[in-house]
Amino acid sequence: MPEAGEGSLHESVMVSEVLENLDIGEGGKHLECGVSTGGHLLEIASRLGANGFALAIDLDEDALSIAQKRLEDKGISCKIEFICGNYADLSVHLSQKGIEPGFFDTALLDAGVSGFQLKGDRGFSYSRDLPLDMRYGKAQKVTAESILNGADVGELRRIFAEYGDLHDAAKVAWAIYTARQHTQLATTGDLVKALQDVYPERMPHGKRMRRLGQVFMAVREAVNEGQRCLEGGIDNSIQYLRKDEGRFALLTFSGNENLIMKRIAARYRRPGKFNPDWVLKKVTNRAVKPTRDEVRRNPASHSAMLRVFKKLPVSKVEV
Ligand SMILES: C[S@@+](CC[C@H](N)C(=O)[O-])C[C@H]1O[C@@H](n2cnc3c(N)ncnc32)[C@H](O)[C@@H]1O
Repeated sequence: MPEAGEGSLHESVMVSEVLENLDIGEGGKHLECGVSTGGHLLEIASRLGANGFALAIDLDEDALSIAQKRLEDKGISCKIEFICGNYADLSVHLSQKGIEPGFFDTALLDAGVSGFQLKGDRGFSYSRDLPLDMRYGKAQKVTAESILNGADVGELRRIFAEYGDLHDAAKVAWAIYTARQHTQLATTGDLVKALQDVYPERMPHGKRMRRLGQVFMAVREAVNEGQRCLEGGIDNSIQYLRKDEGRFALLTFSGNENLIMKRIAARYRRPGKFNPDWVLKKVTNRAVKPTRDEVRRNPASHSAMLRVFKKLPVSKVEV
């Protein structure tokens, strides 16, 4: 497991904006999806106080144990339960604990990959030569290696177009298919090498790095089924919030993630089959973005967007 030194921790994004909009109260019950090394949770749990309760879930067992230790070291007094699992399966985990929909006052879902994982040894980044793994959790079966060596050209092209937003997805797919005819791709270095004709070193440096970043993001999304899980995680989180003013905050980093939230928000805008007696309303009218100061301090925050919603009983709104 990587050392829990300050430098390896994930740097949490828009902490004060999250706290302000979630309106965390003393004694509240909070759900945290994607806890990583616990930056947001530390702040939230310290506001919940001794009578509060938090439940935190993440697939990454290494990050979870660091989060747990950080919270213990800080002497946080509220009760916290950690689950190593997928937030798409939240309802299964919660019903095993006897927790019913409508239980939590607040929920935060912070999607995607963490800085802790990017700096770690699971091959999320093209900047170091490491085995092609890219799983958020070690219990997952599919790896970057199995996808890159096993998927047919059509599937590879779909992955790069859909998850990487690459207009030359077909070229990328063919380059990988051709390279693996000689030897299987085993490391991140093999993947970069396979793409040397598509993204040659003579390309402008910034553009080449961006394209490689998009390739790596697409593979990571395919390995971890990012979009399917995000949809399940958002829906579950909302269902488990209390009907009367339960608040949900979502941090996203891409257009695809925003579209998923927009779709779910539209579904729950009026009462329906799965929300006969409550609706979802915006707390933040537009997406909140990090300040210039924060982006300067933490460049990884530059594409972050925060959206906050609240549940309201049908009796309290005009629909
Ligand atoms: C951006 S980080 C969260 C950072 C955290 N809020 C903080 O303040 O440190 C995203 C986390 O979500 C986790 N994750 C991604 N997809 C997941 C899923 N489907 N189920 C559970 N955890 C997931 C990743 O393992 C990663 O640790």
